[in-house]
Amino acid sequence: MNRGSHSSSYSILENASLRARNSFGVEARAAMLIDVRKTDALRELFGYAMLQRGPVLVLGEGSNVLFTRDWPGVVLSLANRGIDVLADDEGGLRVRVAAGEHWNDFVHWALAKGACGLENLALIPGTVGAAPIQNIGAYGAEVAEFIRAVEVWDRRSAQFVQLDAAQCAFAYRDSLFKREIERYLIVAVEFLVPRVQPLRLDYAGIREELAAMGVADPTPASVAEAVTRLRRRKLPDPGQLGNAGSFFKNPLVDAAFAASLRARHPGLPVWNAAAGQTKLSAAWLIEQAGCKGQRDGDAGISDQHALVLVNHGQASGAQLWAFAQGVRERVHERFGVELEPEPRIV
Ligand code: FAD
Ligand code: EPU
Repeated sequence: MNRGSHSSSYSILENASLRARNSFGVEARAAMLIDVRKTDALRELFGYAMLQRGPVLVLGEGSNVLFTRDWPGVVLSLANRGIDVLADDEGGLRVRVAAGEHWNDFVHWALAKGACGLENLALIPGTVGAAPIQNIGAYGAEVAEFIRAVEVWDRRSAQFVQLDAAQCAFAYRDSLFKREIERYLIVAVEFLVPRVQPLRLDYAGIREELAAMGVADPTPASVAEAVTRLRRRKLPDPGQLGNAGSFFKNPLVDAAFAASLRARHPGLPVWNAAAGQTKLSAAWLIEQAGCKGQRDGDAGISDQHALVLVNHGQASGAQLWAFAQGVRERVHERFGVELEPEPRIV
């Protein structure tokens, strides 16, 4: 491994700042930062002791990670690119997309090819390689619906392996990869994007946005545009105000507990979820607990959306995490509900 070196496959930087590589904009340093452009290099890289035995953190665009400290080992960023069409017929568009592609670029690439289904997932930040980690979802769709297989570097067997969708154990903001975060590096994702699929317009706000756009006969592209507009209005832009989108997951609780909460708080939004569970709105709980727009120094909750933890400027990751724990405690005291963070906390 040539330290401080550049090759066509990867480049290495020691004691690297990660401030520009996380959407909270907090400072943290990596003992070593490796940008990998060609995934074949992983065989060589994982032959070195520091990667074989030391802590390795895979970083995409850093839009779902909170660094509360420096990283003592290697931070590895997969910057491989490319979209290969594997098949294109009435069954849909089957494509293999490199992990380093930007998610929203892929959504728009698929729409331009006349495929549909991904429009509800427009403008979610991050890479294609990170999309399966928490099974990204929005506006009534989840990426798992479109994933056929995930190609990984398996650190345990030191091999490239392909996992089919069932093996990935996708669930709400969850997957095998999230549970075994040290083991798998996602190098590419194989998608099957339908050619024909009914539009999903039922998520709150989509129909109203289309109407405001003057669209009477929506297409996948106009739905993508409506979702994009809604997202820009609802969520703070990390380029202006550091954040990682929703900081907590919407809690899944059993139906009886949800019914008793609703009896006391009729305004609480709830949704039916898998396995007879009920999903509660974390944003509503946080707002009702009085935390929306609150701050302590530069760490706070957005005044635009109660589920978004924000860095008003110079907050450290540790300060943001301490603030988030205060929010969690207030929600627990008031409603008896435990909130679970969505981003990876380092
Ligand atoms: P990172 O933040 O770099 O990494 C996230 C996690 O994935 C880390 O644990 C990391 O180690 C791991 N990881 C990343 N790449 C790989 C890889 N190739 N192999 C193995 N592990 C990897 N998410 C939603 O689901 N829905 C939303 O609507 C949504 N809206 C958002 C809005 C904003 C403004 C922001 C800032 C974030 C939002 N998010 C949303 C969260 C975020 O966009 C997703 O989690 C996204 O998939 C993160 O991609 P990333 O490349 O930035 O991953
Ligand atoms: N609400 C409040 N106060 C607020 C904001 C929202 O009470 O400040 C209530 C409203 O009643 C609203 C409800 O919460 O109707 C739901 O709000 P929203 O539609 O914004 O969705 P969300 O549950 O807050 C989830 C995802 C988002 C995703 C949106 C749209 C999670 C944790 N978050 O947010 O994903 O974009 O739905 O589908 O599931 C992310 O994961 O980072 C993310 C942004």
